[in-house]
Amino acid sequence: MKKTIRDIDVNGKRCLVRVDYNVPMNAELKIVDDTRIVATLPTINYLVDHGAKVILCSHLGRPNGQVNTKLSLRPVLARLSKLLNKPISFAEDVLDKSTDEMVDRMQNGDILMLENIRFYKQEDENDPKFAKRLADLADIYVFEAFATAHRKHASTYGVASLLPSVIGFLVEQELQVFDKVLNNPEHPFVAILGGAKISDKLPVIENLLDKVDYILIGGGMAYTFIKAIGGNIGMSIIDNTKLDLAKEILDKAKEKGVKIMLPIDNVGAKEFSEDAETKLFNSGFFADDYQGMDIGPKTIKMFKKIIKKARTIVWNGPLGVYEYDKFKKGTNKIAKYVAKSKAISLIGGGDSIAAIQSLGVAKKVTHLSTGGGASLMLLQGKTLPCVELIEDI
Ligand code: 3PG
Repeated sequence: MKKTIRDIDVNGKRCLVRVDYNVPMNAELKIVDDTRIVATLPTINYLVDHGAKVILCSHLGRPNGQVNTKLSLRPVLARLSKLLNKPISFAEDVLDKSTDEMVDRMQNGDILMLENIRFYKQEDENDPKFAKRLADLADIYVFEAFATAHRKHASTYGVASLLPSVIGFLVEQELQVFDKVLNNPEHPFVAILGGAKISDKLPVIENLLDKVDYILIGGGMAYTFIKAIGGNIGMSIIDNTKLDLAKEILDKAKEKGVKIMLPIDNVGAKEFSEDAETKLFNSGFFADDYQGMDIGPKTIKMFKKIIKKARTIVWNGPLGVYEYDKFKKGTNKIAKYVAKSKAISLIGGGDSIAAIQSLGVAKKVTHLSTGGGASLMLLQGKTLPCVELIEDI
């Protein structure tokens, strides 16, 4: 078990808190979804209430080591300050001595936010001097950036071994839910996997084969499986390099008694566009000039029945082309059934979470993970390097 902020005296201590405020913004630089900010409030409030000096550090986007005003954390600071109802100071340049002066002036319970840490190329390179610089600003390191736990960067990895290090409440909660679901699940355990990229998901399926009872497959990745068993998928998205592995996984699942459920019907379109002519096909019997865009009504019904009897559900990835309203139906229906179910439910991945949120049923789900890549790593049975470094109790 990892040490948390509860296991360390933070009173009067400078706490460097690595958060993940990589939130979606629109063209006017307005925050579209503040879930990741809200998720860190319990940790920040705890630290403030216990007299810590809180130094927040995050990245936003991928500025590639360059200052980019469009990726400034200022809008995040404004939102966080509003949510906490508390002023927060802002350090423009972590390498400048003005940042040391700001830290020196901090009183217990004060909050300071550093500008986007990826404005420095040393961050992504996990530069030891840069990590040391960050460590010198603080007495304690708090890792609260679950969504960045798979990146070995200076502020997520390098600095952790230079200071007494603990996790925050969000990381603690994420790890607990993943541990429960993956290591001690109630059965039937149903995994729902979608999304276009099959390469990320095949290792997830391989890892889940020893744990789950059903795997429901939708989204673009389904067509590689359908082709692997000899179906005609027309112009649907395909990863030809994964056909053999897909077939192997289907065979392995059969041996282990895991039911992998592929779509039995799909909505196809003549072009990858919302206005294209659409037609329903039995999966594996596409017309040559159509491509799969969503799961069809028979598949939705079949998946619904399985979800209804589940006691544990893990869901990652949309079941259709979620960026187009016309092809959101399958994903939204599945979101509704997952929310309705009494199972322990763990949902990760932007589009699956967006579907749950757009239906206003987020509270009915056990846990919406803030991590994309990080949650996939756990589902693949791997450990998160930045969590591994944190001291054990
Ligand atoms: C995420 O959004 O998945 C995390 O913030 C990590 O971002 P990255 O993929 O740019 O490292």
